[in-house]
Amino acid sequence: MVELRDPKKIIESTLRPLVGNDYEYGGWSDDDGRKILREKADTLLSINSPGSRNFLDLLHVINKIEGQCILEEYLLLYYFALMSPSDYPILEIGSLAGASTIVLAEAALQTNRDVISLDPYPISTRCYLDQFKNNTMEYSNIVQYHKGIKDAVGIIPKEYSFVFIDGDHNYDSVKSDFELSVPLIVENGFIAMHDYQWGDNLTIHSRLNNSSYIGLDYGYLAVRKKLIPVGQIV
Ligand SMILES: C[S@@+](CC[C@H](N)C(=O)[O-])C[C@H]1O[C@@H](n2cnc3c(N)ncnc32)[C@H](O)[C@@H]1O
Repeated sequence: MVELRDPKKIIESTLRPLVGNDYEYGGWSDDDGRKILREKADTLLSINSPGSRNFLDLLHVINKIEGQCILEEYLLLYYFALMSPSDYPILEIGSLAGASTIVLAEAALQTNRDVISLDPYPISTRCYLDQFKNNTMEYSNIVQYHKGIKDAVGIIPKEYSFVFIDGDHNYDSVKSDFELSVPLIVENGFIAMHDYQWGDNLTIHSRLNNSSYIGLDYGYLAVRKKLIPVGQIV
């Protein structure tokens, strides 16, 4: 087994040879994100329950799919999905071709949970819908709705252990996705937001209470453990 103490080595010596150079290599400026990967990488990389892939096997699958997260983010996504309370489903906002959906679904399989994935596939991304269907075909625990959360509330389950927001990245949409999904997260659940710092979305970071913020460089992924009063983001 490769020495996995240093997260850069995890990527470079363990994951990189498997996935080649297709993934962008993010920097490491956030202590919490780095610490989690350092402490949990061995465990994450060796998990292998019946009926689900371990993370390295999973990488072979997601490496073939057009996704928009960097490798470290998929690893953290997997970790937070595994760590989230096991009695509730996972909600994804923004599926594209299904790379992040599969990462979530594999983690969810381990505790027999579903992933509810929302994507209205506007014209700009409609070409990904068939790819999503093909890529996720073997996962009976993925349920996709072609709606944004505004239209899906009332149809989808009301409680989630983990919400991953990676939909329309303009400020109003991120704010609305955030506000509508936070009340659906159960106690001790998690929320992660990808690329939430784009443009005006910097404002979101400045309005989050940093005490339970965990992120990677550039704020690619922000994760909160506690429920955030909706009034905190304006
Ligand atoms: C950045 S991509 C998602 C990438 C995916 N999470 C991954 O890592 O593989 C953004 C997706 O959000 C979708 N989208 C656009 N508006 C949306 C909305 N209101 N609600 C949910 N998804 C939306 C787009 O169709 C697109 O597929």
